[in-house]
Amino acid sequence: MESSMSYAKIVGSGGYLPPRIVSNDELAAELATRQIATSDTWIVERTGIRQRHIAAPDVTTSMLATKAAQLALDDAGVTAAEVDLIIVATSTPDFIFPSTACLVQANLGAKGGAAFDVQAVCSGFVYALATADAFIQAGRSRVALVIGAEVFSSILDWSDRGTCVLFGDGAGAVVLKASEEPGVLAAQLNADGSQMKILCAAGNVMHGKVVGDPFLRMDGQAVFKLAVTALARSAKEVCQQAGIDLADIDWLVPHQANVRILNFLSRKLGIPDEKVIITVDKHANTSAASVPLALDAARRDGRIKSGDLVMMQGVGGGFTWGSVLARM
Ligand code: UT7
Repeated sequence: MESSMSYAKIVGSGGYLPPRIVSNDELAAELATRQIATSDTWIVERTGIRQRHIAAPDVTTSMLATKAAQLALDDAGVTAAEVDLIIVATSTPDFIFPSTACLVQANLGAKGGAAFDVQAVCSGFVYALATADAFIQAGRSRVALVIGAEVFSSILDWSDRGTCVLFGDGAGAVVLKASEEPGVLAAQLNADGSQMKILCAAGNVMHGKVVGDPFLRMDGQAVFKLAVTALARSAKEVCQQAGIDLADIDWLVPHQANVRILNFLSRKLGIPDEKVIITVDKHANTSAASVPLALDAARRDGRIKSGDLVMMQGVGGGFTWGSVLARM
């Protein structure tokens, strides 16, 4: 009998952003042609966002996800044939069905194993990572691909300046492998469905027609307040679960919604700013893709190294939030 493997270890990562970069100035000029007033100054002061990547109209979430997944596989030195679980976290799937994960599986030429999507909006990647960790710990998977991918530009109301300036498109992925070495140490997921209205895209296609409102709607201030308290509490809980001191965390990789949320959070937790990975300035909020994109950026520029203790955190629509603590 093979010895049991008790950890899911992150052995590779990849990130992909569509090539078109839209600066705040370019977006403001575009909106001005439709009498919608915004400015680089407002966006930078309130959010820290300077630009976002926007997918071409014919580019779908599965395309971005496949690119990020292939880069993660290459980084891990793993072939698609070895993957026995694919989870895609997305709120902007290509289709009602099949799942985006099935499309990615076909694109990668992977066969067999499970493939499904997770829907937890901006917490999606953390939810998917915790799910894959549970599969690996239970012995139901040995090599898992966990992807966060979005074409959020497709659900934005470009006449609502309170939301359309905040989001971008992209995909990030990690490869998890069963390992005897420490990997994911603890995970903590939460939801409060009674807060569904503060952040939602409450529409669908039914009987051949769009029903409800297909665009993202948000009460920014309500989300802001809940996000800071929820993430701070979740960080403490996940550390407690793992028996780890907050001070021992090498890197905080939080969902990238707003640099002010991240500043409040790090201050609340007493984590120095140098330990917080920030990509929101360049990527804007890419929902489920933001955490794996930030993780990948910091691994590739050499900040996050093997052996480092990393806390990943998601928060968003649902209302959902959660944390995963992992030894790299
Ligand atoms: O993944 C999770 C998803 N979302 C979040 O985490 C977002 C959380 N919330 C936030 O980041 C912030 O609440 C926002 C960035 C959305 C808004 O910042 P705020 O400081 O809470 O601004 P506000 O909503 O209180 O709006 C202040 C003013 C308003 O004008 P009045 O009523 O004071 O005249 C808005 O109409 O700013 C106005 N405003 C804008 N002005 C220029 C709203 N959007 C814009 C804009 N450009 N794009």
